[in-house]
Amino acid sequence: APVKVSKICCIGAGYVGGPTCAVVALKCPHIQVTIVDLNQARIDAWNSADFKLPIYEPGLEEVVRQARGRNLFFSTDVDKGIREADLIFVSVNTPTKKSGVGAGFAADLNYVESATRRIAAVATTNKIVVEKSTVPCRTAESMRTILEANSKPGTRFDILSNPEFLAEGTAITDLFKPDRVLIGSLQTQEGRDACEALAQVYANWVPRERILTVGLWSSELSKLAANAMLAQRISSVNALSAICEATGANIDEVAHAVGFDSRIGPKFLRASVGFGGSCFQKDILNLVYLSESLHLPQVAAYWRQVVEMNEYQKSRFSKTVVDTLFNTITGKHLAVLGFAFKADTGDTRESASISLIRDFLQERAYVTIYDPKVDDAQIWLDLSEALPSWPIETIKKHVSIARSALEACRQKEGIVIATEWKEFKEISWQAVYDQMSKPAFVFDGRMILDVEKLQQIGFTVKVIGRGDRL
Ligand code: UDX
Ligand code: UDX
Ligand code: ADP
Repeated sequence: APVKVSKICCIGAGYVGGPTCAVVALKCPHIQVTIVDLNQARIDAWNSADFKLPIYEPGLEEVVRQARGRNLFFSTDVDKGIREADLIFVSVNTPTKKSGVGAGFAADLNYVESATRRIAAVATTNKIVVEKSTVPCRTAESMRTILEANSKPGTRFDILSNPEFLAEGTAITDLFKPDRVLIGSLQTQEGRDACEALAQVYANWVPRERILTVGLWSSELSKLAANAMLAQRISSVNALSAICEATGANIDEVAHAVGFDSRIGPKFLRASVGFGGSCFQKDILNLVYLSESLHLPQVAAYWRQVVEMNEYQKSRFSKTVVDTLFNTITGKHLAVLGFAFKADTGDTRESASISLIRDFLQERAYVTIYDPKVDDAQIWLDLSEALPSWPIETIKKHVSIARSALEACRQKEGIVIATEWKEFKEISWQAVYDQMSKPAFVFDGRMILDVEKLQQIGFTVKVIGRGDRL
């Protein structure tokens, strides 16, 4: 019979583990939830008296305020967390490998492996171990092998796959009302019991019909597949945006018309400067690597093209900026509004903004950046990684960081919208126009501005997916 879970430990207090387990604690006051991490600074931030949490996510602070100290705890004592728990979520980072076999494609499972080995080393009672990080297929199998080879007599481990589908910026609403919760298990009696134990945790707030239970490998593959298909929609619409720009069609109208087909649906069809975030590219490259290891080169090529289209979209947009500014931006001053990979997050991983700014700097332009949620240190770190051969002093000579959108736009020759922050719509564009050198150019990589209004003010506006010709 399924165990009744009363203590949960989550290993990894990042973007996935933190919000997910904070919501589990909020919704299950009878379960004690401890989130552990090796990173002392991160844990201190989660525990900070003034709720200066390590990640920004709308609604998260409210959840932590309600549950922290009641049944939600943050700690660096990983071993104690493991020892006390009946159920352990593994939500450590799984970056793309930087060297060795599969470099640039395969996931680096080092962190998953060490967390798993730690569980095996310290556990003295039965544990349900839940793979929560996005990982390639069959990781659960490797975790099981490690746990079984190292377990003490009388301790059982059951492995589940329970991928997280939350999107950053809407993590809390996604967790409160998930489209679905997916749990994969071995199709044995023990596997099904473990699956039911976790399902009962979610059933505290998620309707039963939204809790899907499948085999371990289907669950692992579904996560990669969902992200690959979402990213594919964006690459498809972005590919069409290039046709629109060349013909005078409008991608907004095209996407709207296409999305009316109920088989296609209206969501996630916004053309952009390119998708970013920690998941899409990483998961597709994982799928490409998996396909290649399974000797399916056509399948690998198919998915790889989704990432290539995204790279093309980013460089195509940079090129539009250069072309429009009379084929050179050397020595020119540009404002880039937005540095995060999407609005309502401070996360910059794989942000399209970074690629654009790198391109502008390579053309020797001066760039002023403004983002409401990204701190300066992160910007400097990302730019030095994007331009490894540039000393930081050189970067700082060409880049400045502004405290407001209006300040960033002061006396620029071009303004580039890279992230769809709502406040960029609301700045006084007349005031921006008045102190710009003329002609004044705006490049909207997110289709958020009122183009007609800006044109009336006097701006020349270039929008992703909109042709000049009628
Ligand atoms: C994604 C998935 O949505 C989520 O289910 C999964 O768990 C993790 O990966 P996330 O990366 O946080 O979530 O954000 P998402 O909203 O999916 O956006 C990803 C990127 O695509 C962003 O750069 C966004 O700006 C871009 N995007 C999204 C578009 O360019 N157009 C769209 O229509 C939607
Ligand atoms: C299609 C479009 O659906 C329709 O809107 C357009 O006007 C004309 O082209 P049609 O070709 O008649 O219509 O049939 P459709 O149901 O779309 O199927 C096309 C093919 O895709 C068939 O061979 C069908 O078997 C296949 N298919 C469809 C799948 O393999 N899987 C699916 O999930 C759906
Ligand atoms: P994600 O976006 O997948 O949540 P993050 O990088 O935001 O990724 O968070 C992962 C967290 O996992 C980091 O804070 C990291 O310190 C932590 N971590 C990695 N390995 C271990 C481990 N073996 N034990 C505890 N915490 C770990």
